[in-house]
Amino acid sequence: MPNPPSAWRIDESKYPKNGSPADRLRFLLRYAVLAPSGHNSQPWMFRLSGDAVELHADTRRELPIVDPDNRELVISCGAALSFLRIAMRRFGHEPVTELLPDSNNANFLARIRLGEEAVVPEEDTALFQAITKRRTNRQSYDVRPIPFDLYAALQEAAQTENAWLHFVPSGREREQVGEMTEQGGIALASNPKFRRELASWIRTNWSRAKDGMPGFTFGWSGSESLLMPLAMRVVEWGRAQGRAARDLVNDAPAHCVLGVSGDEPIDWLRTGQALGRVLLYARSQDVWAHFLNQPVQVPELRRRLAELLGKDGPPQLAFRMGYALDVRPSPRRPVKDVLT
Ligand SMILES: Cc1cc2nc3c(=O)[nH]c(=O)nc-3n(C[C@H](O)[C@H](O)[C@H](O)COP(=O)(O)O)c2cc1C
Repeated sequence: MPNPPSAWRIDESKYPKNGSPADRLRFLLRYAVLAPSGHNSQPWMFRLSGDAVELHADTRRELPIVDPDNRELVISCGAALSFLRIAMRRFGHEPVTELLPDSNNANFLARIRLGEEAVVPEEDTALFQAITKRRTNRQSYDVRPIPFDLYAALQEAAQTENAWLHFVPSGREREQVGEMTEQGGIALASNPKFRRELASWIRTNWSRAKDGMPGFTFGWSGSESLLMPLAMRVVEWGRAQGRAARDLVNDAPAHCVLGVSGDEPIDWLRTGQALGRVLLYARSQDVWAHFLNQPVQVPELRRRLAELLGKDGPPQLAFRMGYALDVRPSPRRPVKDVLT
C-alpha cells in the first residue's frame, strides 16, 4: 500500500506543548480534519480566538440533493468536533465545549476551549490512536463475527454522547432493513441530480484534489475512476447498486443504526460526536465501518425505518461493521485551508 498522504502522518511528538494556545490548537486541528464527512466534502471551517477555537459549518460545501436540510453536513462537523475533543484530552486538556453558542448564527456550531489540565483516561488514548487508522472501508468483510462484548462497548460509546446505537439482528429485521436500503438506493439513483452531485465529488485515482472520493475508495482501477463518474451521469444504475447494497446489509457481520432523541441541528451535532466515538472505538478494536445510509436519506423510508426500530428519535445514520483488509485513506484539506 502506498504511503498515506501527509495529512494522515502526524508526529505526536511535535505537539507544541509550550507553544501559544493558537499553536496548540492549530496542531490539534490536524486530527479534527481526519473526521469522515458526506462525499468527503469536509464542510467545516475553524476560527481561532484566544484559547478557544470556533467550529463553523461551511455551507459552500453542502450537498443539496442528498442532504437538503444539511443534516449530514452538521453530523460531519460533529464528528470533527469529537476528534478534536479526543485529541485535546490526549494532550492533557479537558475541552470545554459550547454547542450552537450564537442563536443568531446557525452556522456557528461550537466553541471549544482548551480547558484545565486533565489526566487522560486510557480508553481515550486508544480512541486517539485510532484517529489516523480510521477510514471508511467499502470492501467485503470477513465472515468473522464481532465479539459479543464489543457490541455493548460500542453502544456505551454512543451513550456517552447521549445517542443510541441499535444493532439490527439477523433474520426478519435485517432483511427488512436490507430491503429499505435497496429501495433507498433505487430511489436516489433514479434522480439524475443525485447522480450528478455524487459524480461531481468522485476523483480519479491520480487526482491531487484535497477533497472528494478517489475511485480507489470504491475499489476501482485507474480507468474506472475516470469512466465511472462519466457513466454515472447518464446511466441509471440504481437497481444493480440497490441489490448490491442490500446484500452488503444482509451479509454484514454487524449492521447498525445510530440516532438520538431529536432531529434538530443540536441533535445532529450530538449524532456526529457519537459517530466519531463509535467509529474510533471500533477501529481501536480492529473493526471497520461502511455507511449504508440509503434508507435514512429518503424521507418515506426514514419514517418506515423509525417505525420498525421504535427508538427514541428517528434514525440518523446506518452502517455495517466487520473485519477486513486495510484500505488507502482519502485526501484531506490541510488545516491552513480550513482556518479563517
Ligand atoms: C454523515 C455522513 C454520511 C455518509 N454517507 C455515506 C454513504 O451513504 N455511503 C458511503 O459509502 N459513505 C458515506 N459516508 C462516508 C464518506 O464518504 C467518507 O467519510 C468520506 O469519503 C471520507 O473518507 P474516510 O471516511 O475514509 O476518511 C458518509 C460519511 C458521513 C460523515
